[in-house]
Amino acid sequence: MITGLSHVSIVVPSLDAAAKRLSEVYGLALGEVKINEQQGVRLAYVELGNAKIELMEPLRADSPVSRFLERNPGGGIHHFCLAVDSVESTAADIAAKGARVLGDGKPQLNVHGERVAFVHPKDFLGALVELEEHRG
Ligand code: CO
Repeated sequence: MITGLSHVSIVVPSLDAAAKRLSEVYGLALGEVKINEQQGVRLAYVELGNAKIELMEPLRADSPVSRFLERNPGGGIHHFCLAVDSVESTAADIAAKGARVLGDGKPQLNVHGERVAFVHPKDFLGALVELEEHRG
């Protein structure tokens, strides 16, 4: 079951440059930079209280995020993320209604250790959607 909006995710060529711009122009502070080896990204969050902005910079050339930057060299919105009570049951529920959940079926975790899954953009109005498990 979908319970809220977790974050909007933007791919940037440089986290440092992005942090500088968000700070100087918008007064927004970027949190600690973390690495997600599985997805091949360095990432950090701007906490907005009711949701976050996620910034991702590619860690290596074969990262999916690198391919995104090749198509969008200045960066851009990559996905948005909905909080769910259970990734497993939500994925099973939408898959039963024909939505494609991406990946090989192995559990994926984000940098906070929360379970995540991605839904094919064609099955969510053209937008790539991440589901993120928020318990309690
Ligand atoms: Co995300």
